This record gives sequence, C-alpha cells and structure tokens, in this order.
Amino acid sequence: MGGSSKRLQTELLHAQQGDMGDPAVRRVAELLRGGRLVAFPTETVYGLGADATNAEAVAGIFQAKGRPHSDPLIVHLASAEALPTVAASIPPLAVRLANQFWPGPLTLILPRAEQIPPIVAAGGDTVGVRVPGHAVALALLRVAGVPVAAPSANRFMHTSPTTAAHVLADLDGRIDAVLDAGPCAIGVESTVLDVTVSPPRVLRPGGVTLEALRTVAPDVVGLEPGVTSEPVAAEHVARAPGQMERHYAPRTRLIVFDAQGAEALAAIRAEAEAALARGERVGALLADEEAEALAGLPVTVARLGSHTSLTEISRRLYAALREMDELGLDVIVAHTFGMEGMGLALWDRLRRAAGGEMRRL
Ligand code: TXA
Ligand code: MG
Repeated sequence: MGGSSKRLQTELLHAQQGDMGDPAVRRVAELLRGGRLVAFPTETVYGLGADATNAEAVAGIFQAKGRPHSDPLIVHLASAEALPTVAASIPPLAVRLANQFWPGPLTLILPRAEQIPPIVAAGGDTVGVRVPGHAVALALLRVAGVPVAAPSANRFMHTSPTTAAHVLADLDGRIDAVLDAGPCAIGVESTVLDVTVSPPRVLRPGGVTLEALRTVAPDVVGLEPGVTSEPVAAEHVARAPGQMERHYAPRTRLIVFDAQGAEALAAIRAEAEAALARGERVGALLADEEAEALAGLPVTVARLGSHTSLTEISRRLYAALREMDELGLDVIVAHTFGMEGMGLALWDRLRRAAGGEMRRL
C-alpha cells in the first residue's frame, strides 16, 4: 500500500483447521508475500503483520496504525532455526531462553541483521524477535516463508486487540485482511527482554513471568515498582518507546488503585460513590469474587475472572476495557493484582491504561 492512505477492502478470513493446508492461512500468507498488511492471531494479542524484509510493506504498518517511526516492531519467526536470518549474532543466553520459552510470549532483543531493514527497528541496531505460541500463527509464518514484522493490531496508543472484531474496530479499511482464529489465550503482550545488555533487562513485562525468566537467567533485571521514577527510566523510554506512560489505553478515564483485597474494594466503592454524586456514569473492573463489593450502586461491573487465576484475568482485561469503552461512561475504576507472576504485566498495563498514574492507599 506504500504511502497511500486510500481506503482498502479489509478481507475477514476464518481459520478452519488452522494448519499449513488451511485455505485461509494460505490466502493470508500469499498476501503477506505480496507485501500486503494482514492481521493475524497470536497467543498474546492479534498482530498486524507485513513481510519484515520489505521496507515498503513495513512502512504501511506504521501508516495503518498511526504509529510513529520511532517505535520499533517485533519480528515473528516460525522457528528459532530462522534466527540467523534476522539477528547478526546470537548470545548463548538467547539460545537457552529460546529453547525454554519458544514458541511462546517472549521477545528477545538481539543485534539486527542486515537483511532486516532499519525501519523495522526504528533505525536502531537491534531487533526484537519472537516465535509465537499459536498454531495458526506458526502455520502462517511457515507458509509465508518470510520473517513477519508485527506490532499489536490496534490504532496507536489504544488497547491491544484480543479478537478479530477488536482488530476491525480499529483498522477496518486500513489493512488488507484479518485472519480470525478466535480469542487470544494469554491476552497481554509478550515479555520484551533485552539480551544485548548484561545483565539482561526486561523492557516490558508480559506473558512470560519474571520468575520464569529467572529460572534460566537468574540475574534478569525486572521492571520493578517505582522504576519509572528512577533515572534509568529515560533510557528505558528511549530504548523501548512502546513503554510510554500512556499506552494500551481506553478513551474513557481510568482510575486504578494500586492495592488489593478489602482495602482496594473500599477505595473503589468510595470513588464510585463520589463520581455518582457528581452525576457521572461509572464502570468498574473487578474479579468475579469482588463483584458484590459495589452492590446497591448503579455501576456497570465487568468481571475479569477469578482472582485465583491471574491468567484468566490477563486473558479478559483488554476485552473488558474495550467493552467498558463502548458504554460511554465517564470513569472506570479498577485495582491491581499484586506484582507476582502475571500480576506484574497486569500492573504495568493497568498503570499505562490509566495514563501512567495509580492511586496508592
Ligand atoms: O505479544 C506481542 O509482543 C505482540 C504480538 C503481536 O506479537 N506484539 C506487540 O508489538 O505487542 P508492539 O509493537 O505493540 O510492542 C512491541 C514492543 C514495544 O514496546 C517496542 O518498543 C518494543 O517491543 N521493541 C520492539 N523492538 C525493539 C527493539 N529493537 N529494542 C527495544 N524495544 C523494542
Ligand atoms: Mg502495541
């Protein structure tokens, strides 16, 4: 599509058996090889893909999303065997991490190979790479036979899509096709780990937890609470521009309490009561067990799943934010789910969805 901004006909294709013989997979792979823009499912969120070796096709991704060229893209591979085609060198730690976590929600930052045009990497000398843990994505990558650059398939700054319908809501008429394989299993993006520095550093927490990473690389530096107030933060922002303070965001104002349990629920109730008293329409994101906390108040509650399963909550979070956003509310209230396991990625996304600020109790 080059530099053109003309409206495209976006084809919606449904994966059937989801293997390399699937007609929908073959059609979308053909589009990819022809330099077109296609959204496809992964285990984390839907991606907006283009042939990573085709600079013009990759330029179309930035245009369709309204994304600044300063924000680098992740390159998706069918298998770690293809790593030498995208990375100039592969440290032994990267091999160990790939063996342990691929296919899966881990993006490794590696030195960029010449074959990957600078536009993919925002002009930098590194490239983010991952092998997605999703059968349809893997079939598509195999049939396409090219590395696929793909950010999340949403308009810039918006909540990432976890269904094909979410993709169309943001990008219908701006991309060539959407390959639908149902909702994403993980629901938040991959963990981005920079292995070009020592010790390796998490640039974005995600589907692979810090605890799991440390079983392979015990010295991994995580994104700990308060990191954004430390001097290192500016460097983070420069190296991973996706790490902007407002990101993954609904349009509706979101207030997040960085707390759990009875304390968090009392604060949410008080906030809801105050907003209702101002005549505002209020929504809340709560775990299933917490839904009664706002009983008696005219508040729309989205249930995220049981608080005993942070994977369930991660899977639901973005869809819930989008559903809430459709309701024309004035404010949405929510709370964090601790810092352990998937709690860290939830903490990060809730904070950014709230514009970078959370309320502490
Ligand atoms: O789960 C995911 O990672 C999804 C699916 C589609 O794979 N993709 C995704 O891409 O979330 P995107 O573009 O929305 O987020 C990529 C993140 C951004 O924060 C970007 O700054 C960072 O990865 N990133 C990519 N390449 C990088 C590089 N060379 N150096 C530092 N950060 C990089
Ligand atoms: Mg994104």
